[in-house]
Amino acid sequence: MFSNRVTEMLGVEIPIVQAPMGWIARSQLASAVSNAGALGIIETSSGELDVIRDEIRAMRDLTDKPFGVNIAQAFVRDPAIVDFVIGQGVTFVTTSAGSPTRYTAQLKDAGLTVFHVVPTLRAALKAVEAGVDGLIVEGGEGGGFKSPTPVASMVLLPLIASQVDVPIIAAGGMVDGATMAAAFALGAEGVQMGTRMVSAAESPVHDNWKQAIVDAAETDTVFLNQHSSPALRALRTGRTGALEFDHETNAMTAFANPLDLYFGGDMEAAIALCGQVAGRIDSVRPVADIIEECATDCLERIAALAARYPVSPG
Ligand SMILES: Cc1cc2nc3c(=O)[nH]c(=O)nc-3n(C[C@H](O)[C@H](O)[C@H](O)COP(=O)(O)O)c2cc1C
Repeated sequence: MFSNRVTEMLGVEIPIVQAPMGWIARSQLASAVSNAGALGIIETSSGELDVIRDEIRAMRDLTDKPFGVNIAQAFVRDPAIVDFVIGQGVTFVTTSAGSPTRYTAQLKDAGLTVFHVVPTLRAALKAVEAGVDGLIVEGGEGGGFKSPTPVASMVLLPLIASQVDVPIIAAGGMVDGATMAAAFALGAEGVQMGTRMVSAAESPVHDNWKQAIVDAAETDTVFLNQHSSPALRALRTGRTGALEFDHETNAMTAFANPLDLYFGGDMEAAIALCGQVAGRIDSVRPVADIIEECATDCLERIAALAARYPVSPG
């Protein structure tokens, strides 16, 4: 149904990738995504490589489908991270939050397929130059760590697609069949979902975080640290709202106790990274339902548009 370069390179039926997210992108969530025909990703940004090794082992018990690993370069604590990832026997890796020249050659020499996350055209051209197999083009409406000059997916995707030949996975605002079809129209061959996957039934985060996403309006995120890197987009809470116009405090110092928020449910204990698309999520649903509905609706919308607007009338 979706046969393209992304399905071929990733070995999946449905070109949807679950975003890497520290502590969240582990086997419970990632195996549900892979078992649904899309691609689960295991994070390394938590830095807990011993735990990650066990999580990758657990993936092999929980699914016989492909999955990948992410290296978020800014958060790498162990210099042997590349050898660690290569040693896990995975074939697909995404690299983010750093220069594509740092790890691409080593990963590709070991036979891995490498997609690099880019927030600008300049970064995209640099990644292609570095030899990546594909790009994850991440619009500034998405959750997580961001370029300090955020550019929305609607501008970024067609711009980059017009200047590179490698396959593109769109991230930032991707949530359903409508956004997936739009991303394809703009030049992508796959989508990556972060916030939607945080809200999924199999996501390991506390129900308070999922409910906060369900309750959020599209205006309920804040863009922090635009003046003191790394910039990030997060859910608006008392803590993050106070930081929004405080250009003196680096928001990273306010991350405080992430696990109390992630798994204890205290939404003021830390910062809940979150995309604007929270405003389009209105229930907690199983991963398989999200992926199935997204894929079917995407194809139906593309077919309906083709029928509604034929190239030659009649
Ligand atoms: C809670 C959270 C944690 C994230 N952590 C990472 C990470 O460790 N590495 C990374 O490359 N991206 C990370 N991101 C960004 C996602 O990979 C993804 O590109 C982004 O969420 C897409 O936008 P969306 O939230 O609109 O789906 C994170 C996003 C969220 C919401």
